[in-house]
Amino acid sequence: MKKEKVLVIDFGGQYNQLVARRVRECNVYCEIYSYKTPLEKIKEMNPKGIILTGGPSSCYEDGAATCSPELFELGVPVLGLCYGAQLMSHVLGGKVERAANREYGKTDLEVDTASALFGGVGSLLPYASMLQKVNAKTTCWMSHFDYISKLAPGFKSVAHTGSTPVAAMENTEKNLYGIQFHPEVLHTPEGSKMLFNFVRGICGCAGDWRMDTFVEDSIRQIKEKVGDGKVLLALSGGVDSSVAAGLLSRAIGKQLTCVFVDHGLLRKDEGDEVEAVFGNGGQFDLNFIRVNAQERYYGKLAGVSEPERKRKIIGEEFIRVFEEEAQKIGAVDFLAQGTIYPDVVESGLGGESAVIKSHHNVGGLPDFVDFKEIIEPLRNLFKDEVRKAGLQLGIPEKLVFRQPFPGPGLGIRIIGEVTAEKVKIVQEADAIYREEVAKAAEQWKKENLSDRFGERGEGLSVDEIFSREREFNPSWMPDQYFAALTNMRSVGVMGDERTYDYAVALRAVRTVDFMTAEAAEIPFAVLQTVMSRIINEVRGVNRVFYDLTSKPPGTIEME
Ligand code: XMP
Repeated sequence: MKKEKVLVIDFGGQYNQLVARRVRECNVYCEIYSYKTPLEKIKEMNPKGIILTGGPSSCYEDGAATCSPELFELGVPVLGLCYGAQLMSHVLGGKVERAANREYGKTDLEVDTASALFGGVGSLLPYASMLQKVNAKTTCWMSHFDYISKLAPGFKSVAHTGSTPVAAMENTEKNLYGIQFHPEVLHTPEGSKMLFNFVRGICGCAGDWRMDTFVEDSIRQIKEKVGDGKVLLALSGGVDSSVAAGLLSRAIGKQLTCVFVDHGLLRKDEGDEVEAVFGNGGQFDLNFIRVNAQERYYGKLAGVSEPERKRKIIGEEFIRVFEEEAQKIGAVDFLAQGTIYPDVVESGLGGESAVIKSHHNVGGLPDFVDFKEIIEPLRNLFKDEVRKAGLQLGIPEKLVFRQPFPGPGLGIRIIGEVTAEKVKIVQEADAIYREEVAKAAEQWKKENLSDRFGERGEGLSVDEIFSREREFNPSWMPDQYFAALTNMRSVGVMGDERTYDYAVALRAVRTVDFMTAEAAEIPFAVLQTVMSRIINEVRGVNRVFYDLTSKPPGTIEME
């Protein structure tokens, strides 16, 4: 495993994880490292290629993020993106200057398809061959103030836009390449092809990073590491901990114990669904302990309405319950966690652009669990890779494609005090909402995808199932959506009688990184069906709102 590796050197730009994801999509393993990583360490890792990312600084300013000129002398192909391309020019003797105007947004681009970076890109211009030019037109996403005003010795420009003479450059003798725009974002429609050309073509990577081999290799490694030891895992039913459980179970069977805490703030039927997959009689061989702690949580939450306080109580109570169960089990050798690669990068261990969302990680490690070591089998995977590994392990699609669900669960989707009655209301409303949106999306797939993809079910490969669920969706398909209970009650009329009931808010957002988000344009007819079903079927609700707020200024959750 991981025989060939590309390094993504992080200069602090906003799309850096995206660069790494795109490289992985070319079946090439890569890791993100800060630009401060010593050259010696880079050499030791023996990369097949190096990609320098974008970044917020100007490379000619004092104190700007930089790299050693020796990085370009390792004999390893290097591709600089945006800031990375400017830095490459600057360090190697070219010139970078502030442009008169910022170039931002979708921009027409002309590329030289004779360059190894741009093979197969764009449509040829009419009469190109007669003019003995091999330029092609395509579109790219630009975002820069500075530009390369003079090429470094040995480089030539291989792409330009109306206002940027060096939109891409190459020095084929030294295998150095630079791209001023962002091939990693979807707004550069042929960007993936360019990155593929670099890692699979120029760097010569064979593309051996695949989830089926990952699963096999991990199972072998876990067996070796754990030996006949015992492993304990807190299973939340979310994608990461479920896939970790599946992987560990395949490797070590009953040496694994999973503790699943039902805090009474899960979505409708969720506890039973998790139990059906991982509990006795399910498809996995492991010890499954379900703790029904609903009453305990409701007791602790009674009378509490402040969001942060609720979060803290729920997080702390989880640790207490988990510790109690762990004490019953006694000493274990390993505590397993479903940490994934973005957690590693964002905690500052990998890249440069550290973003720490402390409230999203449930209250730290339990103090009273007796274990020797932590085991994190998904530590190197991006979310989509975790999903593919989950499909590979045979975990049901419903679990694998679950939308994100916050650790404090419905506790932060009920504004104000949480009670068992309010939990029931929001569970029912949310289930109706999810059912109707899923139904509308299924319908869309039936009407818009080819027969093979339109039908769910047998015979599709892991990659096909994945594309069907993640990539072929209506444009309004939200990345996260849920019903929340506003703490507001209002007057209504039902069957000639006055009501004074709760208002439910429906939220649905489109987002890539969950840091910014837009309200999703769910078709009005779908919303109307949801509204009338909720009013008719859920007791205690007489009004339904649709939340149009984007993030910022709102957040995705309402508390
Ligand atoms: P916000 O509300 O901050 O949410 O825009 C961004 C993403 O994080 C999830 N979220 C949480 N996840 N514990 C979690 O585990 C939390 O306290 C929490 N708050 C928000 C939210 O569902 C969304 O996906």
